[in-house]
Amino acid sequence: MPIYTGKFITLEGGEGAGKSTQLAIIKSEIEQAGIEVVVTREPGGTPRAEAIRQLLLSRDAEPMPESCELLLMFAARSTHLHNLILPALKRGAWVLCDRFTDASYAYQGYGRGLSLAQIENLERWVQDGVKPDLTLLLDVSVEIAMQRARLRNQSQGLGEGDRFEIEQNAFFERVREGYLQRAQAEPNRFQIVNAGLDLDAVSTATRQVIRDFIRKANQ
Ligand code: TMP
Repeated sequence: MPIYTGKFITLEGGEGAGKSTQLAIIKSEIEQAGIEVVVTREPGGTPRAEAIRQLLLSRDAEPMPESCELLLMFAARSTHLHNLILPALKRGAWVLCDRFTDASYAYQGYGRGLSLAQIENLERWVQDGVKPDLTLLLDVSVEIAMQRARLRNQSQGLGEGDRFEIEQNAFFERVREGYLQRAQAEPNRFQIVNAGLDLDAVSTATRQVIRDFIRKANQ
C-alpha cells in the first residue's frame, strides 16, 4: 500500500442528489482551513480517464456489456489514481473526489447486479489498499432525485440525459440501497447527509461533517 500524508475525501449519491453544490462547499471549507485541496471526479479526472468517461456515458449504437462497463470504470480509476490522486496525496494535499469506488459497488454491483466479490477483486488489484478517509453520502429518495435531475437537464438543455440517467427508477432504488448498505458496513468512513431537505439545511449538515473531519485531522 502506498504511503502518503494527505487526506482522501469522496462524495457520493445518486443522480440529482445535489453533489456539485456540496462539493463546492467542502472545497471552500478545506481551503479556509489553509489546506491545499485538489478537486476531481470519477469516472474522469485526467485526460485518459476523461476519454474513458466519454465512452462510458455516451449512448452509442453498440451495446455496452456490463463487464465492459465495470472494467472501464476501473481502467479510468487506475490512471486517475496513479497520475493524479496519489501524487497529490503524497505531497500532502487533500483530494476531494466526486464519486469513487463506492459508486462501482452501488451502480455496477447493486444496480446492474454484477458480483460484489468481483468488484472487490478489482478494487484490491487496482487500488492496493488506497481507500477514502471520509465518504460523504448525499442520500435522497429516488422520486425527489429524478425530479431534480430532470429540471437540471431541461434548464441546461441536456435532453434526456446520459447512458446512466436514462435508467428506470428501480435501478436507482437499487443504487440507493447499495450506498446505504455500504455506509452501514463502514460507519467510521461514511457520513450520511439527508439531501432531501432544503438546500440550506443540506449545506449546513455538509459543513458540520467537513469541519468535524478537519478538526480531528488537525488533532
Ligand atoms: P456523474 O454524473 O456523477 O459525474 O457520474 C457519471 C455516472 O457514472 C453516474 O451515473 C454514476 C456512474 N458511475 C458508475 O456507474 N460507476 C462508477 O464507479 C462511477 C465512478 C460512476
